[in-house]
Parts: sequence; C-alpha cells; structure tokens
Amino acid sequence: QCAQANEMTLIYYFSHHTANACLFPVCALHHVAVTTVEGIGNTKSRLHPAQERIAKSHGSQCGFCTPGIVMSMYTLLRNKPEPKMEDIEDAFQGNLCRCTGYRPILEGYRTFAKAMMSSSLFNSSEFQPLDPTQEPIFPPELMTQSNKQQKQLCFRGERVMWIQPTTLKELVALKSQYPNAKLVVGNTEMRLKNMLHSYNHPSVGRTILLICLFTGITFGAACTLSSVEEVLRKVVAELPPYKAEVFQAVLEQLRWFAGPQIRNVAALGGNIMTASPISDLNPVLMASGSKLTLVSNQGKRTITMDEKFFTGYRKTIVKPEEILLSVEIPYSKKGEYFSAFKQASRREDDIAIVTCGMRVLFQDGTNRVEEIKLSYGGMAPTTVLALKTCKELTGRDWNEKLLQDACRLLAGEMDLSPSAPGGMVDFRRTLTLSFFFKFYLTVLQKLSKNHNGTVSAAREGRFREGGSVLQDELSSLEDGEWRISWSCVLLQEVPRGQAVEDMVGRPLMHVSAAKQACGEAVYCDDIPHYENELYLTLVTSTKAHAKILSVDASEAQSVPGFVCFVSAKDVPGSNITGIANDETVFAEDVVTCVGHIIGAVLADTQEHSRRAAKVVKIKYEELKPIVTIQEAIEKQSFLKSIKRINKGDVKKGFEESDHILEGEMYLGGQEHFYLETHCTLAVPKGEDGEMELFVSTQNLMKTQEFTANALGVPSNRIVVRVKRMGGGFGGKETRNTILTTVVAVAAFKTGRPVRCMLDRDEDMLISGGRHPFLGRYKVGFMKNGKVKSLEVSYYGNGGNSVDLSYGVMDRALLHLDNSYNIPNVSSVGIVCKTNLPSNTAFRGFGGPQGMMIAECWMSDLARKCGLPPEEVRKLNLYHEGDLTHFNQKLEGFTLRRCWDECLSSSSYHARKKLIEEFNKQNRWKKRGMCIIPTKFGISFTVPFLNQAGALVHVYTDGSVLLTHGGTEMGQGLHTKMIQVASRSLGIPTSNIYISETSTNTVPNTSPTAASVSADINGMAIHNACQTILKRLEPIKQSNPKGSWEDWVSSAYENCVSLSATGIPDLGYDFEKNEGKPFCYFSYGVACSEVEIDCLTGDHKNIRTDIVMDVGTSLNPAIDIGQVTWASTQGLGLFTMEELRYSPEGNLYTRGPGMYKIPAFGDIPTEFYVSLLRDCPNSKAVYSSKAVGEPPLFLSASVFYAIKDAIYSARKDSGLTEPFRLDSPATPERIRNACVDIFTKMCPSAEPGTFKPWSVRV
Ligand SMILES: Cc1cc2nc3c(=O)[nH]c(=O)nc-3n(C[C@H](O)[C@H](O)[C@H](O)COP(=O)(O)OP(=O)(O)OC[C@H]3O[C@@H](n4cnc5c(N)ncnc54)[C@H](O)[C@@H]3O)c2cc1C
Ligand code: FES
Repeated sequence: QCAQANEMTLIYYFSHHTANACLFPVCALHHVAVTTVEGIGNTKSRLHPAQERIAKSHGSQCGFCTPGIVMSMYTLLRNKPEPKMEDIEDAFQGNLCRCTGYRPILEGYRTFAKAMMSSSLFNSSEFQPLDPTQEPIFPPELMTQSNKQQKQLCFRGERVMWIQPTTLKELVALKSQYPNAKLVVGNTEMRLKNMLHSYNHPSVGRTILLICLFTGITFGAACTLSSVEEVLRKVVAELPPYKAEVFQAVLEQLRWFAGPQIRNVAALGGNIMTASPISDLNPVLMASGSKLTLVSNQGKRTITMDEKFFTGYRKTIVKPEEILLSVEIPYSKKGEYFSAFKQASRREDDIAIVTCGMRVLFQDGTNRVEEIKLSYGGMAPTTVLALKTCKELTGRDWNEKLLQDACRLLAGEMDLSPSAPGGMVDFRRTLTLSFFFKFYLTVLQKLSKNHNGTVSAAREGRFREGGSVLQDELSSLEDGEWRISWSCVLLQEVPRGQAVEDMVGRPLMHVSAAKQACGEAVYCDDIPHYENELYLTLVTSTKAHAKILSVDASEAQSVPGFVCFVSAKDVPGSNITGIANDETVFAEDVVTCVGHIIGAVLADTQEHSRRAAKVVKIKYEELKPIVTIQEAIEKQSFLKSIKRINKGDVKKGFEESDHILEGEMYLGGQEHFYLETHCTLAVPKGEDGEMELFVSTQNLMKTQEFTANALGVPSNRIVVRVKRMGGGFGGKETRNTILTTVVAVAAFKTGRPVRCMLDRDEDMLISGGRHPFLGRYKVGFMKNGKVKSLEVSYYGNGGNSVDLSYGVMDRALLHLDNSYNIPNVSSVGIVCKTNLPSNTAFRGFGGPQGMMIAECWMSDLARKCGLPPEEVRKLNLYHEGDLTHFNQKLEGFTLRRCWDECLSSSSYHARKKLIEEFNKQNRWKKRGMCIIPTKFGISFTVPFLNQAGALVHVYTDGSVLLTHGGTEMGQGLHTKMIQVASRSLGIPTSNIYISETSTNTVPNTSPTAASVSADINGMAIHNACQTILKRLEPIKQSNPKGSWEDWVSSAYENCVSLSATGIPDLGYDFEKNEGKPFCYFSYGVACSEVEIDCLTGDHKNIRTDIVMDVGTSLNPAIDIGQVTWASTQGLGLFTMEELRYSPEGNLYTRGPGMYKIPAFGDIPTEFYVSLLRDCPNSKAVYSSKAVGEPPLFLSASVFYAIKDAIYSARKDSGLTEPFRLDSPATPERIRNACVDIFTKMCPSAEPGTFKPWSVRV
C-alpha cells in the first residue's frame, strides 16, 4: 500500500514475525523489539547472508522492494535456519517486486534450502554460511521488563488518544467510557480506512489464546491469524478427520488470506468485526454456526454467527460498548461435511471476488440432507446465507436432481443487480453455482468413501451436456501444490581467451545490489531533510470534465503547520506545459480528468499538508465526459494526427483469399506500478532563479525544460539530478513533470525547499499508464493459412493530452505484423482524446498492443483453417532479406533460429499430445499451449532522440568518474556502462564509478527509454574512452611498461578531459512508407503451457520456455533478468492487471488492494530461458542488442495458451468456432468464455438497459 516498500521483523515473546511498517502503529511497539534491514548487516562491515545472496544472485534490480524481501527471508531464517523451498515461497506471499520476475530471488534463496541447482549466473560457493549464533539477541532490558507488572499506557497526539490497557477489566471499563472508540488489534483494516482512533488496545486479546471445549475450539478474538493457523494445523493432525472438517476449511481460507505480514498481526476478531462483505473467514464461521462471546460492563453474552449477525454494510449486532471476546469454532460431527472456496484476481495475497463456506449434515448413515448451510461473501453488502435454497434442499437426497435444483435456486437467490458495486456480475453469479458444484462433488466423493454403496443412486444421470463418467469431473477438485520447481538459464559463454579482467559478457552483479540489500541505497525521498523544508500535497479534480467555479482553501489555513496554497496564479512563467503544449501546470478554468492538478498545499510536515489538502473545497459545473474508446469513436473525439501505413493492394489481396475473417480485440491499459512512486525535491538556490531538482525521472532534459518554462527562467538555471529510481518502465519518461513543475513553482514561491512523494493512490490516479487499445481487423488468407491481405484500425485511448501518444501509435502500427510477412496491408492508427489522465510510455511503447492484435487474428485464422496454430504461424514468418510492411529490409534475421530452438527445447510436439490426452480425461480442468514469436524494432522512432552523451573524468589516482545520459532504474544500465568503459579503457571495473545522472554534466539527454540506452550511451562512452586513449597513446608509447595510473598521471600534465556523442543514421517517412525507422530488430520466441479451472476461471502457468536473441550479451545476468522481468510484466499485462473505471471516468483501482500485479506464485512453475548463441549484432556496442522491451510481448504466449485451453472447454459444450477473448485474460474473462450449463443459468443483462459499475476504457 505504502510507496516505501519497507518491512520489519517484530519479536514478540522471542519469536520473529514480519510486519508491514506502514500498517503497524508505533504506539503498539511497546515491549516489542524491532529489527530492520539496516540492523542485520551493512556494506561497511558484513552483509547478512540474506542480503548477500539476494545481491549476488542478481535478485535486486531497482532495489526498492529488496529490503522487504530480505526481511521476509531473514525472519524465516531466524525461525527456521534450515527452511524447505516451500517455506521460502510461502514467506514471500506478501512481497511484491516489479523488476526481477522473482526467479533470481528464489534461485539465490534456494541455497538456504540446500535445494540449489547449479547456476551459471553466480557462484554459491562464495556465499557466507548462515550462522544462527551470530544473530542479534533479544534485548535483555525488554526481557526483564516483560516480567514486571504492566501499566496502562496512554499516548496523546494532536487529534488522537491511544490507550493501551493491560487487563480485560480495564478494557471493558474504557469501552463503556468511550463506546464509539475503535479497538485496534492488528490495525490492518483500521489503517486502511485511515480512521481516527481515540482509544486502542493492541495487545490484550493476544494473551487469551485458546481453550479447547467439548464442542469446539475457542480462540481469543485477538489471536493473530498466524496463531490460529498454527493451532489448527496441530489440532487437525491429531483429530479424526470427520471432526476437523470446519478447521480444514478455515485452514484452506487462511492459505490464501493476505500474506504472512498481515496474518502475523491481523486478528480473527478483527476479521469478523470489520464485517467486510468479502471477508474470507466470515462465510466459514457463519456456515459452521460458530459462537461469539461478547463482553461489556453489563456482562457477557454468547451469540451464534448466523444470518442476523450482520445488519448492513460493515455493521453487526454487536453494541458499541461491547467487545468481541472469543470465537468458538465447532468440531464437525459424523455425517457432516464442510468446504470453503475463494476466487480472487490473484491467488496470493488478494481479497476475494466471491468466497463461501458450505456445510451439510446427513441423516445418520444416509445421503439425505438433515441440515445444510451455504454462506457467501461477495454477493451482497454483507456475508449472506442462501436461506431459501437451504430450506428447499433440506430433506432431499444428495444426487443429481438436488444439484440441478440447488443451482437453479442459487441462481435465483444469489442474484445481483447488473449495476452491483464491484461489477463482474455474471462471473460472480456463476461462481456461486460453480462453488456449489465443487462442494457437491467433494461431498459425493466423501460419501462414497464413507458409505460404500449408499450413494450409488447419486451417480445416476449426469449434470452436463453430452454425458460422461464422473471421474473426469472429479478433476475439478484437485488443487494440488504448485511449487516453483525448476528454472534454468542457458547462457552464451565469453570467447575462449578473453582476459579474466575483461568483464564484458560476464554476469557482473548490479553495482548497487549490495547497498540496495542493506537499505543503504539512496532514493529521491531518502535525501536528508533540508532545514526549513516544506511538504507538498496535491489538490486534484474529482470530476472528469467540469468547469471550475471556485476554489476555497480557507479551511486549510486552520490546519496546524499550513504555509500556503499554490495554484495557477503563482506560476511565474508559463502555465502551459506538456510535450505538445496542451497541458497545464495547474488547471485554471476547466478540468479534463479526475486527478487533474488544480492546486497544492504546503505545510511543515507531510501529515499536516495532507490534512490541509483534504479540506480545500472546489465547486464544479459538470460537463459530459468522454471516457471510453467507444464513446470517443461515436463522438469522433480524436487527437490529430492520424497515421497510416499501406502496402500492396489490399482489395486484390482479399479477392485472391480463400477466406476472410473479421473481428475485434480490446486490450486493457496497464499501471506502471514502479515501487517508488513519483517524487521530487526542489531546492531553490536563492540567486538568479537557480534551482536544484532531485527527481525520480527517466527524462532529465524534459524535466529541466518544463521546469524552466514554468518558472520563466532559462534552462541553465535548473539542475536536475537523478541517482537512481525505484523503477520507471516508461512511467517516468514524461509524467513526472506534472509533479516536478508543481513542486518547483511551490519552491519558487516560498523560497524554501519543497518535497513531495506521491502516495500510491495519488500516483495511480494522476499519472496515466499504458494505452488501452481497440483493434478492428479484416484478414484474408488461403486454405493453408497463408495470409494475403490485412486491413486494421487501431484506436488507442490517449487520455486528455497528446503526451507520447503519437509515438506509441506509430510503434503499434510499425509492429502490426509482429513477425509475419503480409503482402498487402492497409492500416490506420487513431489516438482517442478522452477525459482520462494522459496515457503515456510503458515498456514496449505500443509495440505489444500492435503485436497482440496480430496474434489475435493469427490464432483465429488457424482455427478457421482447422490447422495447428504453430504451423500457420511458422508458415507466415518472415525470411532473411524480406521487406516489412514499412519497407525495411530484414538483415541478420535470427527469428527462425529462435523458433526452431524453442520448439525443440520445449518438446512442443510431445507435450501437445499429452495435453490433448489430459483434456480428454478432464472436464473442468483444461490445458493449453502456445508458441509465439516477437520481432521488436530498436531505436526511438523520432530519429533525433537516438543520440547520447558521456563525460568521462579520469583522476590522477587513475580512478574514473563516468557520467552518461542514461538513468538507472533497476535495469542495470550503469553496471553495463561500467563494463563498456572498463573494456574500452582496459582497466578493472573497480576503478570506475557512476555517481548520478545530471543535466550539468551531460546536457540535452534523451530519455532512458526505447530499450536503446545501453546502445547509445554505451557508444558515447566508448567514443569518449577512445578519445582519452588516443590522447594517452603517445604517453603509453613513451612508457609501454607503465601502469594505467602512471599514464594518467603523466596525462594530467596534458589536461585530459573528454566528452563525446554518437548519432546513428535513421529516419522513416509515414506518408511515403519509406526509410528506416529502426536501427535493427531484437528477436525472441516463447512457448507457454497453462492449466485453467473452467469452473472458477483460475489459471496456473505450468511452463514457459524462452529463446531470446540479445546479440552478444554485455552482461548475461542483467539480460536474463530483463527477459524474466519483462515477461513477468507481460504476464501481468495479458492475464492479470486490470484498471477499472466508473462510467464517469473515476479510477477505482488505486492501489495494490484492487490492482494486482504478478506475485511470486504467478511465475511459471518451470521457467527456462536461453540466450541465442553466435548472433553478434554489428549495429550496437560490442555486438550487443537491446533487451529491455522486446521480451515483454512474449507473455502473449500465456494468453494464447489460455485461449487454447478455453477452446478445449468450449468444445465440450459443443462450441468450436473462433471466439473473442479480450486482454487481460482474468479469471472473469476465462470463466465467462468457458460457456457451460452454469454460465447459461446466469445470463447477462441486456446492454444499455442498466448502468454498469465499471466500463472498459
Ligand atoms: C494487505 C491486506 C490483505 C488482506 N487480505 C485479506 C484477505 O485475503 N481476506 C480477508 O478476509 N481480509 C483481508 N484483509 C483484511 C484484514 O486483514 C482483516 O479483516 C483482519 O483480520 C483484520 O484484523 P485486525 O486485527 O488487523 O483488525 P483491526 O484493523 O485492528 O480492526 C478492524 C475492526 O475490527 C474492530 N475490532 C477488532 N477487534 C475487535 C474486538 N475484539 N471487539 C470488537 N471490535 C473489534 C476494530 O475496532 C475495527 O473496527 C487484508 C488486509 C490487508 C491490509
Ligand atoms: S527490484 Fe524489486 S521492485 Fe525493483
């Protein structure tokens, strides 16, 4: 949730737990020892093995997530010095990384589990052993204090009083004194709600652990979920299975409940009392009839958790003065069966879409239902019981007829309005039936085991079209462990004879990795505070399109620490900004998106500025917004210019084709989700308008230019400095400027340093992301699958300004062929102008959208021809020397080599047969596989951007300070540049240092983007080094046996100080369709296999094989890291990450709670990456190739493997024609596409007859 992805280890009662620093209340840390990443090791003395191994195994890239991951591992090691691989994977359930693709982290940490397979990327024999005796001890003073009598504590803040009682009696008395005060236990819910507490008791319930009763187990309401889990695991192992049915269900829910950091602090009682309609435990507690004991100064009462417990959205029958004391979860009886199911957008650490607890009790020795309770979450404002359905099913036999009636009844009872909050209405309704079906089968299976023969009647008749044996349906229940079993990389080797000290081509560790692992690496917001510094909070529009009638900041003035409100009238230069001069620093009269910046509040602290910003009042006159591509097409709301690429004779091509296929595909946008949000610190220098800006940006030049423009000063007064970013992915190519210019104006106005780091929700709201795309196509092809003619229209949702949208659309059009030779092409690219925040650059820059639509028609035409998709794809692949649709000749075309290697290394054909067999045997689980190529053009499509600069300082001691135009955002650019300089100068990498990127060392830098930064900056560095070497040459000749230091010191007298730039030869004309937009192409092929659960829409990534041409790799560890990182980001794009907007253009998905990026458990169970050998690239430095963006698209293989699996499911329902599957392939889309009897029972409402909760933008 927080931007600062830090984490800590809490030590209670001498055991170690991870917790989220941003959620844990400081007041609750009394008597608790806290260990942070800085406390376990450092670069000055010694790294802890958890720090050393993540660094050396290349598991730290931008490094922003690294401290959190290190602390998860450290905690595990403190509790279990010899963990199993499963323990390691489970420990990371609550950690996210946007850079590494997780593989290197797991590989490095696997060494603790002694499950290491050899890795060519690091040498595990170098690792220090783990020595548990060397860990810090629990502070003795805390130990002695814990034995003393505790006293009630009270903390008072400006607006908050926090009381920590020590006994239940004190707590009850306080609650009667302050009935409306909130209890805080784990704070995981309270913190999120950001509510004001007046009194809290963080620890009392923790002491009431558990009591085993005759009827069940009673847990103190404040037991943490981890302790509940631990207790139940032990109990279940000892109890006879029939008694542990409910406990098993609780464990099943806890398995996917948040991550360990939450489960370690969140309480059972907190989950109940939060009364969330999507709580995971409440349906289980309700269906099992768990008992709750409440206490107040009036005494105790015990109630059953039934349909009367929740009285409304987040309301219960518990009185304000009452405290939930304990929860009794019952034992199950003989003849009683219980299951719980949950479906979320992501398996790990995600809240439910629909969740349920289901219980049935049979009459003794029969299959006749005596009692049944079905409880659902996610279907109403509270957890609900399906009372009507349960009533109807009571007394009935457990058979197919019951199943059919139950589904019919549930479809009626668990109905949802088509406008229901949360959307996904058809999916949620279908899930209620799917879950019941799973429950039905589970019970049937247990019945048949327990009472052989009594249920044979239940097997009569089949509940599916076509009829089948029950066995194939039981597969729907298997949900085995999916552990990351194997990952392997195959590298290029450096040529024989390459000097040991020549690091080019070797897997050199990221130069900042060790600092990142110790929490020492400095990011923008880590810069120490300046005296007099102010904090800024933005005030942004809540309307997508409106006139501003008034802005009233008067109430903000009464907030302590308030300094001033800044708005358009404070801009000393021009308020007009943006790449196309179509944006404002501050909105003046009109707002054109939710999140449009109207003003900002400055205060002495972050907390005060936030509070003040909240009370700034804005009055609007609303105007009709345009939100979706569809609406923009209807209203012809387009950003000009419209681009076309035409080749050959499309009409003739269609006439000659055997078949023509027309269709449409929509691809959703994507949030960058860099772990470090936008951040700027502006420091006015007090003279001549000088200002120093510390910014998290990929684009120093535009940041400097836009700031100078807003301040009305020449660029030479503005210095922009970037040390490193915690991720960028294109999101900091231009959009940081909307924050930087505001912060700079505020600093100018006040003459004081001003800082602002956006919260995650603000960042997601205002800064835009990847362009959503709609592709309409008409493709003509022959019976053998050969494509003859293609007509496509691409529409991108550009948002409210041009920004980089034209470039994005150009790249989409230039990649509409993916890797296929299409003789006749007619294409048009249109950018829609809408009332959304401006969309912008994102890794791939339109290329993935362009290629994805190509693969859509390619996969459908293969189906239409009835041919294997891999054969049709191969048939259409380009050959060496072919001309693309933009008339660029393909030279050094290694794609066919990648294709053949991938096909063979993945054992494609043999596995395909196994998949066919699997699909025949399983009705509700299906597997699919797909192999996809990619060809990615390397260069900025704006030719002049393909320039770079470098400044190399050689000091008299021989050390080298290297500066170049590129920024470090985790991609290892600085590491690679040091390798290049090291080879160019012939000195060790340890002699070379990069401190930062800044506008006063290398001017007019192109953004670090388009994958070319290593190419262009590497060339500039190489040139600069050559110049130095040339100057040193006479000195070397006069002293051939001298050392580098000797030569440098002699050169000092010759004033050696050098810089150089390099500009490649490029340029393309859209009008004439001629020229050369790209310097060269990067190629790759991926083959992926997935398994889908047809009933829930869940999918698992079974295996991915990638073969990538990266030329001669500069650093295979970094390049492999880029491949796995990009493909994981692609996995998110195509299968998981979904931005959801209201019809009025309001973004709902403003944080990790609703927007899901891939987690550790989402990477393929088997992941093989190999770099193509012997493919030097003559067009880039040391024969390398760009690798940042090209592999991202390869995750389309997962999407089309899912589509392949859905084909198989649909075939069982008698559907064989091509069907539409939009991206991302979320569980909702997968489930809805697997049309079957259950989906048919939940038909969609007629579009246009209702207002949907969310729209596809
Ligand atoms: C990242 C994240 C992931 C999550 N994932 C899930 C998930 O997968 N499934 C899920 O169901 N939930 C999830 N949650 C929600 C949350 O963790 C749970 O609801 C948790 O159990 C709340 O417990 P707590 O101790 O933190 O409650 P707190 O935040 O301390 O309190 C929550 C509410 O309960 C009240 N309360 C607490 N104890 C008592 C008591 N004894 N008597 C009376 N009132 C009381 C408090 O006053 C407050 O109103 C997630 C939350 C986060 C932040
Ligand atoms: S290294 Fe994990 S987010 Fe960057």
